[in-house]
Amino acid sequence: MDGELLTGGGLNQVFRVGDAVRRPAGPWAARVHELLRHLAPLGIAPVPLGLDDEHELLSYLPGDVGHVFPDDDASLIESALLLRRLHDATVPLVDRLDGWQFAAREPVEVVLHGDFAPYNTAYRDGVPVGIFDFDAAHPGPRWWDVSWALIQFVLGLPDERKRRTALFCETYGYAYEDEHVLMRLEDMIHTIREHPAFVKQREERHDDYYLGLIEYVQANRA
Ligand SMILES: Nc1ncnc2c1ncn2[C@@H]1O[C@H](COP(=O)(O)OP(=O)(O)O)[C@@H](O)[C@H]1O
Ligand SMILES: [Mg+2]
Repeated sequence: MDGELLTGGGLNQVFRVGDAVRRPAGPWAARVHELLRHLAPLGIAPVPLGLDDEHELLSYLPGDVGHVFPDDDASLIESALLLRRLHDATVPLVDRLDGWQFAAREPVEVVLHGDFAPYNTAYRDGVPVGIFDFDAAHPGPRWWDVSWALIQFVLGLPDERKRRTALFCETYGYAYEDEHVLMRLEDMIHTIREHPAFVKQREERHDDYYLGLIEYVQANRA
């Protein structure tokens, strides 16, 4: 296949072809494209350009991908605002309950991104401006994405976790709960151990990393 191979999550072979990316399309791609078409006016997510049985074509989000944990408050605040904007914009689509990779999760409040993290974020001048990789999108409660964002944007660094958790939650407008983060971590460990696509994560024992975070949250309950 022509185009430049992009390195990223390691789950999919994603090629950049000019202003577009071509990536493998799962059975959920039609539903995800409906979501992306709906989000297009916001300018924070890829625009769907094409879809066949095997591949999807999406617009390329210019910028740098976050391969390290951001350590500044300004970037953390912008990430929380980005997630909030994304969630709020999906409310008209919450009646699309099937066709996603994952079953709808109760209580359905928004369409979740499913993997809102620095490695799926486009940054310009250090500011998060867009989010891609909507393969895991599905309807569910806001806390599901907020908890994952806390795990990925805050708990990745050892310093100031409590203060930065509070900052993210306050900016988003969510009342923090340890139980939500613990449920999200347990689900991730289950996915790493069971999901057929998570071979690399299984080999590299990413489940041990998330078990360590469970111990941290349990030892530092709010
Ligand atoms: N729409 C996009 N705009 C810019 N870069 C993208 C886009 N989609 C994917 N990429 C790049 O390709 C890499 C892998 O794509 P991603 O959709 O995250 O797949 P994976 O399932 O492997 O995580 C990303 O880390 C990013 O560098
Ligand atoms: Mg990714």
